[in-house]
Amino acid sequence: MSQPSNRVFSGVQPTGNLHLGNYLGAISKFVALQESHECIYCVVDLHAVTVWQDPEKLRSNIREVTAAFLAAGIDPDKHIVFNQSQVAEHAELAWIFNCVARMGWLSRMTQFKEKAGKDRENASVGLFSYPTLMAADILLYRATHVPVGDDQKQHLELTRDIAAKFNNDFSALITKYGHGESYFPMTKPLIEGPATRVMSLRDGSKKMSKSDPSDLSRINLADDADTIAKKIRKAKTDPEPLPDTVDALKSRPEADNLVGIYAALSNSSKADVLAHYGNEPFSVFKPALADLAVEKLAPINAEMRRLISEEEHVDAVLRQGAERARSIATETMKEVKEIIGFLT
Ligand code: TYM
Repeated sequence: MSQPSNRVFSGVQPTGNLHLGNYLGAISKFVALQESHECIYCVVDLHAVTVWQDPEKLRSNIREVTAAFLAAGIDPDKHIVFNQSQVAEHAELAWIFNCVARMGWLSRMTQFKEKAGKDRENASVGLFSYPTLMAADILLYRATHVPVGDDQKQHLELTRDIAAKFNNDFSALITKYGHGESYFPMTKPLIEGPATRVMSLRDGSKKMSKSDPSDLSRINLADDADTIAKKIRKAKTDPEPLPDTVDALKSRPEADNLVGIYAALSNSSKADVLAHYGNEPFSVFKPALADLAVEKLAPINAEMRRLISEEEHVDAVLRQGAERARSIATETMKEVKEIIGFLT
């Protein structure tokens, strides 16, 4: 199988509370990339179970993330939408990568340190080796580009390290079997625009996150218009009016975050937003932001609700996507097995 030149892969965990950060940092980018790339989007349920999930809730969360993909505008006929556990090759390649990646590399992953917290002895082995599964997700399809939020940057660096070590460890066989100099590509992260790290609405120094105990800290894709407006109204800010330069936002994390959200939702830049709202008080800016957020998110929310009630349709999309993903994945695994010396 020849190496594709512009294949996108990305994934979202079905762990509930999909929020504006997931949408602006990832899902909205997935939608845009469909115009120029061959795209594969995955609901990464194998990643979700690295921490315990209620089985019934997990099943509904898998459908909810799929519904969000479709409601945001991902076309499952032109591109591939599936859930990870239906394509067993993800786990199979992750095992090979567990044997390529080094303990030291994984020990440096900041997300593991954050998620495991102080009680590291009690974290699952899966949570520790999570980034090798993520590398397998991407490299199973030999994807060239991966749109993600800023928090995934280190995992993508690790993916490149794994690809480079595999290419190097097996270079003679890779050439022997006709794959040229290297088998896996050096995948490029796509982390661009004004909202690669959307922050909590309650604390501008913390990332907006699914697991924040305060629901006021995030705008959920499932929130209705009133809730969205209320959360923006209550968002923490400082007492000063907005500055008129992007530079002046640096020392004002909450203002910076809201301006970034406005810029991303309106497909413009922070400078454009400040050209319009610079020197305005939050009493003017917040209602404008609330209107914009409702205008952009309400249709997605309505379509998500509709799709969630059509369980069979969503399941059929995932089944069909898994079949198409599997046809690429089996081919890669066959070649990987040949390269590393397994009998095929
Ligand atoms: P997950 O499920 O935590 O998040 C999904 C996507 O949303 C982005 N994101 C954010 N972007 C901006 N601001 C925020 N506050 C914010 N919070 C989350 C994430 O960066 C991500 O792009 N490990 C991944 C899932 C994954 C994956 C992959 C991604 C598994 N395999 C292969 C890409 C390629 C994760 O936990 O994302």
